[in-house]
Amino acid sequence: MNALQRDLKRLVPLIEHLEAPKAASDPHRQRFHIQPPVGWLNDPNGLCKVGDTYHVFYQYSPFNPNGGVKMWAHVTSKDLLHWEQQPVMLYPDEPFDCHGAYSGSALYEDGKLWLFYTGNIKLPGDYDHINTGRENNLCLATSRDCLTIDTKECLLHNRDYPAGLSCHVRDPKVWAQDGRYYMVLGARTADSRGEVLVFESEDKRSWHHCNTLTTPQPVGYMWECPDLFELDGQWYLMASPQGYECQNQYGCGYFPLYGDFRGSCRLGDFHLLDYGFDYYAPQSFLDGVRRLQFGWMGMPDASYTNPTADYGWQHCLTLPRELTLAGDGSLLQTPAQELKSLRGEPISLVPNETLSIDPCFELTAAPLGSFCLTVAEGLVLTYHEPSRTVSLRFTDPTISGGREERHLELDIPCRSLQVVADTSSLEIFLNGGSFVMSTRYFPAPGCVPVRISGTSATLWSLALS
Ligand code: FRU
Repeated sequence: MNALQRDLKRLVPLIEHLEAPKAASDPHRQRFHIQPPVGWLNDPNGLCKVGDTYHVFYQYSPFNPNGGVKMWAHVTSKDLLHWEQQPVMLYPDEPFDCHGAYSGSALYEDGKLWLFYTGNIKLPGDYDHINTGRENNLCLATSRDCLTIDTKECLLHNRDYPAGLSCHVRDPKVWAQDGRYYMVLGARTADSRGEVLVFESEDKRSWHHCNTLTTPQPVGYMWECPDLFELDGQWYLMASPQGYECQNQYGCGYFPLYGDFRGSCRLGDFHLLDYGFDYYAPQSFLDGVRRLQFGWMGMPDASYTNPTADYGWQHCLTLPRELTLAGDGSLLQTPAQELKSLRGEPISLVPNETLSIDPCFELTAAPLGSFCLTVAEGLVLTYHEPSRTVSLRFTDPTISGGREERHLELDIPCRSLQVVADTSSLEIFLNGGSFVMSTRYFPAPGCVPVRISGTSATLWSLALS
């Protein structure tokens, strides 16, 4: 262990101990979402299940709720509902990762956790830190007990990546297939186009570039946090393209991939995964036969804010969502079935009645036409049947943190609505998860008034046992 690691290992628990009571006193603290004990959270990393334990890591800056040097925080769970905080897993403590242990993924094999991540280095000097002055190294850390790191090494430097790229090449997602290992890395080309590099390995250490996935017309200038997987015979490439024009600062979605990702293939149209204010950098993993995905319930460089920063913490992950396939090949996202066990007794909500409920609640409805859902007298979800448009609009700026309005157009009429609310978030699933809107919001502490018009609904309060 080097001195930097030794000191960080003492300092992080110290700042957590000092600052956690303030964060815990925030009325907007979430109850069943993964959130940092103090400081800043962004991307989910290293998702996996080892034995009967789920491991979730995330990008963490404990020293500053507005972000700082990134490390990998670690939480574990047996049921995807109760999360136990573990010591920080990866510190930025080596010459190849000391300006941030950036995003990456996990593989569990041979009794070891193999963590692939990006070591970020920002050289001091007069650089643009895009085409010069930055190193994005491919790094590997291993752990036998899944709690502490045994080894750390740098596997690839920028000079090992294909020609024509900027310095931004990061966020390895690794998986085993056909007796080999594959990895996708997000990249920004020297002329600022987003793409994904595919690498192959026989031993998880020596990697060679075997393909590049991109689109004929640019989709943004940098594809962050790629993920590539098969679902029922169809392949999908997920990515978070910076510079993609949409309602949010950055886009986040998927391309169907036709052909073999290692050779001849093509990407289909880009589909957004979420139409709300706060969703980015999702990562998926296989849990037996189901594929679960967590996203970051946040948005980099957004103009809006989270008042939780005043309590010394910011951001959370989304619910674990199961990915399945719709008949037309598009992806459906639904809350993992475990969430159902949080439900209390069902309560009927008749149209236009206002019911005050615990801020952790779930609502479902089967509308037959236009409807309007009002939460906390300041956040309004409207569906207009003739145009099939949905809008999510804040009418009370005191609960919005500066968020205003998001809208989308459904492909078919809206016939199902599911809303899962935690203390300061809403995740809205339309038509069985074919469209999703996620947002943070900051209602007054205590029960939350809920009202729906145009349809009746069922409400449950959600409680962790
Ligand atoms: C996405 C991202 C990744 C990077 C990480 C750093 O939000 O920018 O590309 O690895 O965050 O925290």
